[in-house]
Amino acid sequence: MENNTPSEGREHWSGQLGFVLAAAGSAIGLGNIWKFPYITGENGGGAFVLIYLICILLIGMPVMLCEIILGRHTQKNPVGAFKMLSPKSSVTAHLIGVVLFTCGVALISFETYGWGLIFLAVAILIFKYGWIMPGIMGVFSGFIILSYYSVVGGWTISYFFNAAAGKLVFQNAQQAAGCFDSLKGNPWLCVAFHIAFMAITCLIIYSGVRKGIERWSRILMPALFIILIALILRGITLPNALDGVDFFLRPDFSKIKPKSVLTALGHAFFTLSLGMGAIITYGSYVSKNENLFKASLSIVGLDTLAAIMAGLAIFPVAYAVKINPECGPGLVFQTLPLVFSQIPLGIFWCAVFFILLFIAALTSAMSLLEVVVSFAMDELKWPRHFATFFCGAVITILGIFSAVSISNWENIEWIHSALIKIFNTSQSSFFDFMDNLGANWLLPLGGLFIALFTGWIWGTKKAVDEMRIGSENFADVNFISLLAGLKDDPGHNAKVHVITLASLWGIFVRFIAPLAIFLAFLQIAGWIKN
Ligand code: TRP
Repeated sequence: MENNTPSEGREHWSGQLGFVLAAAGSAIGLGNIWKFPYITGENGGGAFVLIYLICILLIGMPVMLCEIILGRHTQKNPVGAFKMLSPKSSVTAHLIGVVLFTCGVALISFETYGWGLIFLAVAILIFKYGWIMPGIMGVFSGFIILSYYSVVGGWTISYFFNAAAGKLVFQNAQQAAGCFDSLKGNPWLCVAFHIAFMAITCLIIYSGVRKGIERWSRILMPALFIILIALILRGITLPNALDGVDFFLRPDFSKIKPKSVLTALGHAFFTLSLGMGAIITYGSYVSKNENLFKASLSIVGLDTLAAIMAGLAIFPVAYAVKINPECGPGLVFQTLPLVFSQIPLGIFWCAVFFILLFIAALTSAMSLLEVVVSFAMDELKWPRHFATFFCGAVITILGIFSAVSISNWENIEWIHSALIKIFNTSQSSFFDFMDNLGANWLLPLGGLFIALFTGWIWGTKKAVDEMRIGSENFADVNFISLLAGLKDDPGHNAKVHVITLASLWGIFVRFIAPLAIFLAFLQIAGWIKN
């Protein structure tokens, strides 16, 4: 990571598996095991899961390929990548700038000053930097997301210590909730663990990461999957557990809230680490003889599997022990210790689980910080140690506000009233405010720009050329033949095909993904009522 020139000297993953595991290490994290279950609970269960899966398939997959391609082609950090491929001046970029500028002026005239100013600022940045803007936005998102991610990372450390000390053996849901509330209700404890988590993340990033990321992911992923399977088996056999499976998997659209679509979309980006260039950065270490299709399919598949397994481990238990699935960010921390209390050697497994969750969070946090740090190193020419220290400190300070405002504004009422004045926000805490801003707005917006850029500015043609490298004939074989396992059959290779993976991908990147993201924004803005 020390240099960003597209030279032969750039380090690469050790092979297909190395990249898939590292990217899956970034993707699989608190998003899958902590966030996905609790937002599914808050948004009514099965129907939300279905919307989320559709977002993964229609938007997540194509954008994932875009990011890997952009990374491998440019061998750079996100800002560098956009800089390298952007045209000198782009009419489209100016057009987008004009639209945003107009929106900004309109918002200010409606007295929504905060958003108005943000729109104006983004418009000006687009006028100035053109298509480099998505890269800059990605770095900004990294700051926002890591700041509250690390607070939850801190909880996993606290729970690990509690588990090891045997303090997580509970008889009923009240005790489990009490334990979580006492952590949440002690802001300084949350701050301390948040700082500890950030310090560890910085330490790893400081000492160069790539080999570390790969090695950790190789052990961690399989271990995490095995523990999840054990948890599912124990959970499902509890009385009333099947009601939980029913809640999780049976779609009931009447329970969907207006905000659910944007939340599902935002989470699809969040869980796959998309929309801010983390995968561009990881993609820049991928070697030229890898099949990018297979890689992205495995990453998305593993990540989705982890999320579904986490849901299957948690909801049955929640129903069995009567924990309200809508209880919010504490859901995992309240339910799983209760299952461990019913398993032989539960204390031991509980500690193992929380240390695995901690490492899963750490590998993801590393990818978030690495984007920010590699930007500061490559573009601002800061040395790695200063970049890590400075960015880490800013993120830690920002995160303290989330740590003291997890479910209400009690401790920072002054920020609340300021935010209401400027943004008219209705979020219930600073933590939620940051999560909403980062995951639901910045990531999909970043994804929208990445898709538009690849599809229309840089062009699918050049992207497909990059995609072909190392992909055998995956890109150009008839899609049906490919699905049927006949891709190497001479009879199916003879002609030029129209419906291929490459052409399908192109259509998704140019039309379907941007349109879907745009509609989700409109829907939440209340312009389309559905
Ligand atoms: N995907 C991670 C998770 O599910 C979080 C994460 C890591 C992330 N890197 C990211 C989210 C980059 C957005 C962008 O826990």
